[in-house]
Amino acid sequence: MLRFEGVSFRYPEDELGMVENLSFQVADGEFVAIIGASGCGKSTVFRLINGLERPDGGKILVDEKPIETIKNYSAFMPQKDLLFPWRSVEKNVSLPMELGKVPMGEQEKRAALVLEQVGLADYAKKYPKDLSGGMKQRVSFARTLLSGADMLLLDEPFSALDYLTRVEMQEWLLAQWAHYHKTILFITHDVEEAIFLAKRIYIIQDARPFTQMESIEVPLGYPRNREALKQGEIVELKESLIGKLRRSVSL
Ligand SMILES: Nc1ncnc2c1ncn2[C@@H]1O[C@H](COP(=O)(O)OP(=O)(O)O)[C@@H](O)[C@H]1O
Ligand SMILES: [Mg+2]
Repeated sequence: MLRFEGVSFRYPEDELGMVENLSFQVADGEFVAIIGASGCGKSTVFRLINGLERPDGGKILVDEKPIETIKNYSAFMPQKDLLFPWRSVEKNVSLPMELGKVPMGEQEKRAALVLEQVGLADYAKKYPKDLSGGMKQRVSFARTLLSGADMLLLDEPFSALDYLTRVEMQEWLLAQWAHYHKTILFITHDVEEAIFLAKRIYIIQDARPFTQMESIEVPLGYPRNREALKQGEIVELKESLIGKLRRSVSL
C-alpha cells in the first residue's frame, strides 16, 4: 500500500509550490488513474513516489515504511518508450535485470516469458525500429514489469499512439493487470481512458499548489469491455469529470 501523509513539495527554482499537505492512498493491486490539467503536477507526484524528488514536508510510505528506507518498490514507464535502438527487444527488456545483476540464463528465461505474455514472443530478436508504436510501448511495459517492482507508475503511456492502437492497448493493459496483479497508477489526460481502465480516479482540480485529489469510484467491475462505456451512468460520469477538469483549467 502507498500512502502520502501531508506531503509538501516545491521545485527550488519555482515560486509556486506543486503540492501542499497532500494525503492520499492506494491499496495493493489497485488500478488508479490520475487526471488533471496539463502542468498541474501529475508527473511530479510520480517523481515523488519513485524518489526522484524529496518532499519538503510530510511522509511517503509504502507498506508503512518510509520510501527512503526501501528499494525497488516502484517502476516508472514514460510516455515515450525510451528503448535503446542498438539493443534487440529481448536485450531492452533485460536491462533492469542486467542492472540488478540477475544471472544471464535467468535473464533470458524471464525475458522470454514476459515477451510471450505481452504478445511479442516473435519479436525477441528484432530491434525497436522494426516495431510499431503500440509494440514499442508493450516492450517498454515488459521492461517495467521486469524491474520486479510491485507498483507500476505509468505516465501517459499511450498518449502518443493513434486512437485505435490506444484502444487496443487499453484492453491489452487490463489483461496484463489481471495476469500480474500489480498495483498500477496511471496518469492520463483522457477521461474516457481513465474510466475504462481504473477502479478509482483521482482528479486534481486545485490551482497550484494542490492540496487534495478527489477520489471517484468507477462503477464498473472487471473484466470490462468498451460496451460498458455506453451505459448512462458512465456517460454521466464522463461528462461530470470533463466539467470538473474544465472548471479547474479556468481557475
Ligand atoms: N524538474 C523541474 N524543475 C522545475 N520545475 C519543474 C520541473 N518539472 C516540472 N516543473 C514545473 O512544474 C509544472 C508541472 O509539472 P508536472 O508535474 O510535469 O505537471 P503535469 O505532469 O501535470 O503536466 C511544470 O509546468 C513546471 O513549471
Ligand atoms: Mg506530466
